[in-house]
Amino acid sequence: MQPPPSPTLSRRRFVSTAAAGAGFLILPSGHRLGAQTPSNKLNVGLIGVWGRGLAHYDSISEENVVALCDVNEERFADALKRFPGAKTYVDWRVMLDQQKDLDAIVICTADHTHAFIANWALNRDLHVYCEKPLAITVNEARTVRANWLSKKGKLATQVGMQRHAHPNFNRIRELILDGSIGELKAAYAWGNRQIPRPGYPIGDGAPPETFHYDLWLGPAPYHPYSPAYFAGRAGANCLEWNMFWDFGAGQIGDMGSHTMDLLWNAVDAKLPTSASAKGEEFNPDVTPVLCESHFEHPANDWRGPITVSWYQGGVMPRPPKPFIDLDKISHGAMWKGSEGFLIADFTSRMILPFGDNADLTYYKPRTKETTLPEVGHFQKQWFDACKDPSKKTACDFEYSGNMIEQMLLGLVAYRVGQKLEYDGEKGVVTNVADANQYLTKEYREGWTLDG
Ligand SMILES: NC(=O)c1ccc[n+]([C@@H]2O[C@H](COP(=O)([O-])OP(=O)(O)OC[C@H]3O[C@@H](n4cnc5c(N)ncnc54)[C@H](O)[C@@H]3O)[C@@H](O)[C@H]2O)c1
Repeated sequence: MQPPPSPTLSRRRFVSTAAAGAGFLILPSGHRLGAQTPSNKLNVGLIGVWGRGLAHYDSISEENVVALCDVNEERFADALKRFPGAKTYVDWRVMLDQQKDLDAIVICTADHTHAFIANWALNRDLHVYCEKPLAITVNEARTVRANWLSKKGKLATQVGMQRHAHPNFNRIRELILDGSIGELKAAYAWGNRQIPRPGYPIGDGAPPETFHYDLWLGPAPYHPYSPAYFAGRAGANCLEWNMFWDFGAGQIGDMGSHTMDLLWNAVDAKLPTSASAKGEEFNPDVTPVLCESHFEHPANDWRGPITVSWYQGGVMPRPPKPFIDLDKISHGAMWKGSEGFLIADFTSRMILPFGDNADLTYYKPRTKETTLPEVGHFQKQWFDACKDPSKKTACDFEYSGNMIEQMLLGLVAYRVGQKLEYDGEKGVVTNVADANQYLTKEYREGWTLDG
């Protein structure tokens, strides 16, 4: 057994220390949960307790759930059945300021609040799991990533791209790193989901008294209440609001997060040096259904420069052979190398050697012993890292922040209609001054990203 912690040891440090050691520890006297709680559990707050929030109940129930936050008070009754000891809040800002014993939060709210909550939580030294997408503007992505990088090694982060835990992700990475398609030249990801909307719903009555619509809007510009935003089933209600510019990033933030992750895991890209895009006519209310964007990425230490492309809503990359029908893969990715193609969906993959020299002699498969380790349980990977932040998470705010920044830059290129040259270090479009205004957006008075 380890000695009791010194009174000066912070609660978070204490949890880490306890996790690293074996057995139970005596908590400092006076700690709210100390008497009943094994010391290696984290105090967790869940923000957004219904919908996607439900998918986190099992994993967070392994820890102490001390706080629940939702703008819809009707959602608390069921959540409290599962987490009876938790305190409830309707405003996440109040929760973060008043719930002093928090170690970690899980964010399952609407997309336009993700970067806000994540950034405020990092400012308070909390570990953060944020549902995808991490951000809906380039500036939000950069802000949250920079904040986390300044605390890397002390705080654990993860973006909810849980498909990443499928072994297929790393098998693809191995195939590319080990040369199965020669030298990597280009990569393409696509998704065919279509959610056309004409514009924001018209105002329709007042919200129920138990629904804090103003807090749901949060930093977004005001739009009148409509029940249409909330008519979806649990876990899919995001499809009722994520097409609107003020609340989401369309398919880029939705399936695009998952599918670009499949591609991203195998290319080791950071920020692009250029972005170009085209799609349907620009609608100031609604993000495009049909759109394709293309990015140039510089060489890294194992490959030359590559292009990365994203296609959504039905536009598709050209298949390598007419007999390969990429349309049959609704959300997929393809990598092009000097000697062939690799084509995949989330759970399977195929290689197509291509050209007269494609004899596979250049492919040096690794031994079983050197295959990349499994991610395991995706949420648990984050909890393990919260307890020992020297551990890596698969989709931390650097990896995921870079990925979504690229995708959101594509939306800016689509909006401006020109190829953009991008200085990723500074976060500035260098050739089209007008484009820079779209890297960020105006927030409602009283809301700040950096609170
Ligand atoms: N990882 C995945 O596979 C996956 C799947 C579905 C949804 N999601 C993501 O999860 C998030 C939520 O999606 P959803 O379909 O559950 O949406 P939703 O509209 O059903 O919202 C979920 C819950 O959050 C609450 N909420 C919304 N804004 C809030 C705020 N500002 N403060 C407190 N509570 C708030 C809602 O009242 C609701 O109870 C989205 O960002 C979506 O992209 C991820």
